[in-house]
Amino acid sequence: MVESATAPSDAGAESDAAKHAESANEASSESVAFMMIVARGLEKNYISGGRPLPVLRSLDLEIEAESFVSIVGPSGSGKTTLLGLLAGLDEPSGGRVLLDGEDIFAMTEDERAEFRAQKVGFVFQTFHLLPTLTALENVLVPLELRGDRKGARPRAEELLERVGLRDRFEHYPAQLSGGEQQRVALARAFANRPKILFADEPTGNLDQKTGAGIVEMMEELNRDEKTTLVLVTHDLSLAERAHRVVSLDAGRVGTDRPGRSPARGAPELVGPSPL
Ligand SMILES: Nc1ncnc2c1ncn2[C@@H]1O[C@H](COP(=O)(O)OP(=O)(O)OP(=O)(O)O)[C@@H](O)[C@H]1O
Ligand SMILES: [Mg+2]
Repeated sequence: MVESATAPSDAGAESDAAKHAESANEASSESVAFMMIVARGLEKNYISGGRPLPVLRSLDLEIEAESFVSIVGPSGSGKTTLLGLLAGLDEPSGGRVLLDGEDIFAMTEDERAEFRAQKVGFVFQTFHLLPTLTALENVLVPLELRGDRKGARPRAEELLERVGLRDRFEHYPAQLSGGEQQRVALARAFANRPKILFADEPTGNLDQKTGAGIVEMMEELNRDEKTTLVLVTHDLSLAERAHRVVSLDAGRVGTDRPGRSPARGAPELVGPSPL
């Protein structure tokens, strides 16, 4: 962990962060961790009634490559806002974000879009499916954008089957239930095997069994493809499945502690992943 070396100390979070850094160091004493996501002094103000509404206040956060981190916090605490900034979907009022070592807000918008297409998957709280495309076509979009014409269709079909939508390939979003739309959105986000996957309440509309299946898919992606996974959720039992649980409080990181999952890097990959 480089937290202690690079992060400005935050009195409230210091002891938790220090404890976390210690346990992470024990788990990987031989290797220096690479931070896949670094946010420095991140600020976001919205304008509300003509006045600035501060949502994120000089937030610092580092997320280790290949780790699975949950972000929790009350409604309105800025979780969706934070995820949008970390993914480069929205611009901050101040501060920087480095993804895989690259300063994404130093890029042009086109460069950032290209970077996202190559490395980032995002599951939105509100799905964001394209209404004029079928389920299958929605999943095909990111694959075709990458130019993978031959492999695109079988992969899109495989992903939709994995989220239990074998019989819904030709349905349009308006013909799908909320949970089914969410599953299409997940299949689409997984399509390019992104290096980083951001998921905003991906199980919020699902029954427990389907939700658990979705989380298992995300865990597989994290474990087998080494995807860095950042999950926003109100479901605390789900949040606990991560390596690390970060809470937002007053626009900053509040608590930052290990989750219930074993530390990253323990079990080795056995055989190829279906994802
Ligand atoms: N475009 C916007 N314009 C003005 N205010 C906004 C905008 N987007 C979000 N906000 C405000 O910023 C705050 C944080 O919103 P955000 O969506 O990040 O919260 P959240 O933690 O994801 O909440 P939830 O758990 O309900 O999804 C909220 O108070 C919201 O009203
Ligand atoms: Mg939200």
